Amino acid sequence: MVKKITVNTLKKYKQQNEKFSVLTTYDCYTAKYIDEAGIDVVLIGDSLAMVALGYATTNEIGVEEMGIFTKAVARGVSHAMVVTDMPFLSYHTSVEDAVKNCGQMIKFGANAVKIEGGGDYIVSVVERLCQVGIPVMSHLGFTPQFLNTLGGYKIQGKTQDAADEILKQAKRLEEAGAFSLVLEMVPEDAAKYITENLSIPTISCGAGRYCDAQVLVSDDVFGKFPEFKPKFARKYGDMQSLIMECARRFNEDVKTGKFPSEEEIF
Ligand code: KIV
Repeated sequence: MVKKITVNTLKKYKQQNEKFSVLTTYDCYTAKYIDEAGIDVVLIGDSLAMVALGYATTNEIGVEEMGIFTKAVARGVSHAMVVTDMPFLSYHTSVEDAVKNCGQMIKFGANAVKIEGGGDYIVSVVERLCQVGIPVMSHLGFTPQFLNTLGGYKIQGKTQDAADEILKQAKRLEEAGAFSLVLEMVPEDAAKYITENLSIPTISCGAGRYCDAQVLVSDDVFGKFPEFKPKFARKYGDMQSLIMECARRFNEDVKTGKFPSEEEIF
């Protein structure tokens, strides 16, 4: 029997000082493979807007699209925790809308949702979601859905005051019931300080080595997204070349009559 990763597993990892891995994924079979590879948490990141759907920013994706990908991923996973990133405006209009939209993802097979921010309103959303049985992964530091108010892709928490402000928000989210916290584009020493002062696990997305976990976008890891590579991402393969090479060979075989062969016909 496959043992499912839950919020309790992640809490135990933090207590035992054991690192865990988080990778984004968007389709059923990639989810199945990364689950079998031992990844602890699969995140249907709203990054899918850019890396899979070709939008210019993550803010363009909607709840319906996130639902389609959540269902696909949930069908492929048996071990990892499945977390859906809630898209821009799906939890901002009211606490009721947040419960409805996040609850929909749970119905589609997610085990938890991720929401960005840590102001008063977001804290009240986190609190209500936890009260109704929807586990929340929070997200502070650089929060892409606030791209326009942050004025671009900028490192957050660079001064002691700024790090203290992130910690203050993180503590409120922890108290509201969040089970983990993504820290994106935060200097390593600030992320260390925040991690040491929280009892929930922190997940680094370009926040250095001292967080409890690491997350990357799978298309960066697989070498499939060519538009840009964040400084903190590591490319482990070259899927772009692999896909192009397979397509080139198929194209050539069709045009030279080498495909199909005797074994590939009825
Ligand atoms: O959308 C996403 O993929 C994310 C992670 C990189 C944290 O939010």
